[in-house]
Amino acid sequence: MNTITRLADRAMAQKPKTAGARDINSMSSNRPIKVIAVTGGKGGVGKTNMSVNLSIALAEMQRRVILMDADLGLANVDVLLGLQAKHTLADVLDGSMSLREVMLNGPGGIKIVPASSGVQQMTQLSPQEHASLINAFSEVSDQLDILMIDTAAGISDTVISFVQAAQEAIIVVCDEPSSITDAYALIKLLNAEHGVFRFRVIANMTRSTQEGINLFNKLNSVCDRFLDASLQYLGHVPFDENVRKAVQKRQPLMTFAPRSKAALSIRAMAQKIDQWPVQTTARGHLEFFLERLLQSASVSGY
Ligand SMILES: Nc1ncnc2c1ncn2[C@@H]1O[C@H](COP(=O)(O)OP(=O)(O)O)[C@@H](O)[C@H]1O
Ligand SMILES: [Mg+2]
Repeated sequence: MNTITRLADRAMAQKPKTAGARDINSMSSNRPIKVIAVTGGKGGVGKTNMSVNLSIALAEMQRRVILMDADLGLANVDVLLGLQAKHTLADVLDGSMSLREVMLNGPGGIKIVPASSGVQQMTQLSPQEHASLINAFSEVSDQLDILMIDTAAGISDTVISFVQAAQEAIIVVCDEPSSITDAYALIKLLNAEHGVFRFRVIANMTRSTQEGINLFNKLNSVCDRFLDASLQYLGHVPFDENVRKAVQKRQPLMTFAPRSKAALSIRAMAQKIDQWPVQTTARGHLEFFLERLLQSASVSGY
């Protein structure tokens, strides 16, 4: 038996017996969910801390959150939280494990899909892996309110695929020229070439409320002038030593310093995110996200 046949057999064995063979069109999640990608262009602006802590803040509000780590870099979610992933998305893609078996229990009740080479593979899937991925997600789609995706720095195909497939793109920026130019380059690419037109902006590590607003205005005015994009300000997170201390302790800020200034503003942003309307059209469903992800893969992955 060759490898492909073996993988296909395993993928078939994974399929839930009651549901029969599922493909992307028959995946049966009835409730819409929010798929949010956290990105920003530049490394070190606070994307991972934001994804982790926003996820926990949303879980505090009784939302069921899966945080997908789409960054293989050094300071990824597992590292930040001192977690050790035994299995990875690669085990899901080859059909040998379910998503539930691979997910880690994170702080505050969030579930984490750990980073793995599987993430990059996700934009270059074979038909068998494709089937396994859809099966894996269809198993969890009914027990999920929010899928948060932490992306890598830069504008790789993987980053672009995840962001354009998500319903919401959160851009994290801080007040440094390189952060603003990298965020602009990312927004421009997503807008001009991938049809993303709404972006939510978080100003991180600000020294004052006004600094956050100024930062947003700077980015917004250049986007306004050159792009057909709509930027909306989600808020600012002050520079707060507690964030760095929490990272050192391998704890999320939300549990390490729940009443700190940064934690309070993250919680306020989570409240806003919770108010974003859920899309009741096809776009609001998990299968739509997967479909877009896989479509972009067939365009850019080969
Ligand atoms: N609001 C903040 N206040 C102080 N330091 C911060 C803040 N946000 C992030 N940091 C620091 O920046 C570092 C990088 O953050 P991280 O979330 O890993 O960035 P990214 O994922 O964008 O590369 C963190 O380890 C932390 O020390
Ligand atoms: Mg990161």
